[in-house]
Amino acid sequence: MLLVDKWGRELRNLRISVTSSCNYHCIYCHREGLVNDGRGLSPEEYKAIAYVATSLGIREYKITGGEPLVRRDIVEIVKAISDHKPSDLSMTTNGYWLEVYAEKLAEAGLRRVNVSVPSLNRERYRYVTGLDALDKVLKGLETALEAGLKPVTINVVVLNSINDDEYKDFIEFASSHGYRLRFIELEPISVPSTVFKKLYKPLDSIIKYLEGVATRKYFRDLHHRPVYILDTGIEVEIVKWLHNTYFCMYCNRIRLTANGVLLPCIMSARGIDLKPFLRPNIDLDGIRKAFIAVNELRRPFNIRRSK
Ligand code: 5AD
Repeated sequence: MLLVDKWGRELRNLRISVTSSCNYHCIYCHREGLVNDGRGLSPEEYKAIAYVATSLGIREYKITGGEPLVRRDIVEIVKAISDHKPSDLSMTTNGYWLEVYAEKLAEAGLRRVNVSVPSLNRERYRYVTGLDALDKVLKGLETALEAGLKPVTINVVVLNSINDDEYKDFIEFASSHGYRLRFIELEPISVPSTVFKKLYKPLDSIIKYLEGVATRKYFRDLHHRPVYILDTGIEVEIVKWLHNTYFCMYCNRIRLTANGVLLPCIMSARGIDLKPFLRPNIDLDGIRKAFIAVNELRRPFNIRRSK
């Protein structure tokens, strides 16, 4: 069985924030949405949630934060989800602890990683993240590849006057190492509007460049995101929400906040708290009803806004 919402959108994907804590302080960070605050649930609780989600046809899982690798029990959390044999299980991380964790995560069933790298220039990286950790993260990328966490995807949120001149360097870097690349349009979530105005940069010139050099283009199911295949063999994905009605119409995910609230959308402040169905005892039927109810709450944000 598969849940489908009122707009005909299937529900295939669950994005789980396992903590809102992070060792980074990135100037652009959306902190995974309007309401994402908390220390996360226990591996047993994630296991119950993934069990129910799997029974409802959700086979793709993303683990995120804050920074998921700040949790000491992250390997158990990965295992708790991978026990349900998902079709995809990935993690978005800043990469700081990947060197230490990559192999253990792969053994626990993690398939692949997305690593945020806002710049390949050491000074710029430090400016954006607050940490002088570029070399460490680049080593983490190599360790992830060696551990078989493939594809290793580099996430680049494009920032005006900070890294918008680096896209060719990123393409060259990714091509020479065999990484996947993703350019993300800055989203105005949890970022003060003055900062957003300063940092926002349209992806037009990057898209134009890719249209010119790509040998092939296809669209992913999620958000109908375009992916360009280059002659070097690497893939470059574009994540663009503005002026893009496909983005929400092809959304197939819901989210679990670090406080155990199931949310229909990153832009949503209203969801259903799963904690009453987890504590003191696990109530699988209660969790199941919450998933069905949250599916009913799903709305394509860019359509709702234009009404
Ligand atoms: N806009 C777009 N993407 C963002 N990310 C963090 N903040 C923002 C934002 N304001 C990215 C991170 C990471 C992923 C979880 O979301 O870089 O790759």
